[in-house]
Amino acid sequence: MKQKTVFLCGDCGYESPKWYGKCPSCGAWNTMSEFKEKPVSAARGTNTFQRGESRPTLLKDIDTGDESRFHSGIGELDRVLGGGAVHGSFVLVGGEPGIGKSTLLLQMCQEMCKNARVLYVSGEESLKQIKIRAARLHISSPELYILAETDMEQIINETELLEPDILIVDSIQTVYKRDLTAAPGGTTQIKECAMSLMQYAKNRNVTIFIVGHVNKEGTLAGPKILEHMVDCVLYFEGESAGPFRCLRAAKNRYGSTNEIGVFEMSDHGLLEVQNPSAAMLAGHPQGASGNCIACVMEGSRPLLAEVQALAAKTQFGVPRRTAAGVDYNRMVLLLAILEKRCGLFLSSSDVYVNVVGGMRLDEPAVDLPMVLAIASSFRDKPLPEGVMSFGEVGLTGELRAVSNPGQRINEAYRLGFHTCIMPMQDVDEDLLQKMNIVRAKTVGDAIRAVL
Ligand code: TYD
Ligand code: MG
Repeated sequence: MKQKTVFLCGDCGYESPKWYGKCPSCGAWNTMSEFKEKPVSAARGTNTFQRGESRPTLLKDIDTGDESRFHSGIGELDRVLGGGAVHGSFVLVGGEPGIGKSTLLLQMCQEMCKNARVLYVSGEESLKQIKIRAARLHISSPELYILAETDMEQIINETELLEPDILIVDSIQTVYKRDLTAAPGGTTQIKECAMSLMQYAKNRNVTIFIVGHVNKEGTLAGPKILEHMVDCVLYFEGESAGPFRCLRAAKNRYGSTNEIGVFEMSDHGLLEVQNPSAAMLAGHPQGASGNCIACVMEGSRPLLAEVQALAAKTQFGVPRRTAAGVDYNRMVLLLAILEKRCGLFLSSSDVYVNVVGGMRLDEPAVDLPMVLAIASSFRDKPLPEGVMSFGEVGLTGELRAVSNPGQRINEAYRLGFHTCIMPMQDVDEDLLQKMNIVRAKTVGDAIRAVL
């Protein structure tokens, strides 16, 4: 059987029959590498879905077994997974080096190995290093197995002997298959190793977690090609210098992808942040211009965060704009709206926007708070105390309704806010008693109401 050769982009996973210097999909240079696909007949031998097994079945007759889940003892992680890790599922945990992926997974073992056999394979640290880390995290489970190994065959052999219910491979970039000439960490090795692990997970109903490092550009080098293979993709993000970390599901075959988990890195590992809004607002400056509290929905939870802006006169040439925690293009668009619809001449100002705490706010509801923060800095006038806002801004400067206004207002009320600037949309009567609700039609109205 002829071996098929394809070329894969290491950044985005684009597959093509011929080589390109520049990836046609993501435009990255020099990322295409050769990948030999297994001949079909050989691949079938190791596949779960063997001949005879795959017959058309009526949907009602499919036996799913009991969709039981392993609980990690970490509420934030379980929620992002959709209520725990499903038996036999394949989960990818991605994030920048040093963000805390190994720490999270090791902490997860503590609880999981009470009801299941867990094997933690590390290709990055020695047994001794892992032991020291575990001691720091106060993990003392007598039932946790550790293996320091990078050879894939050896890992599979040991796993077959031990028969764990949960297997953790930290990280996919360090493991390799001996029969491939490619270097560990390359597209070929990553894809082949992940394929072996996936077959193992599905054949033996073992839950597998793999760690994948992300490079600086934010694209998972390698792991991007794994996204379609795995059941869940969790990204661990945040500024490694700051204390907060946010776990987000980018894909989940067993739950919603809207939920996030918030953690704080401490001397003894990751702590769950039970009240993220309060944590995000700690240190919020009173009476300073250029900030506004936003309320965004992260899955089923409302979250308050502080949006800061600084508008300063451009010294020379083209004004600078930087955005951290919000979408850059969205910010530029809002600046144009402010200029055109509200007469704020920002084209000769540098504008910097930042979300405190390293959170990323992608919801359109952050538009209005961002606009208010920028206007406040531009006019050098602080917003009144106890004001928060949410709302989407349209291109004509109109404010558009967002989802769950009630939940957002309740969260703000709980944290001591008394005024809410929001779009023209209905809210429950009882909220009007608690909060001073200012409904504005346009961005201009909203600015006039508070500045
Ligand atoms: P780690 O889990 O090794 O990151 P990753 O596996 O994603 O590369 O986390 C490493 C960082 O976390 C490191 O900079 C030190 C910090 N850390 C703490 O602050 N406290 C701790 O208890 C531990 C274990 C790590
Ligand atoms: Mg690690």
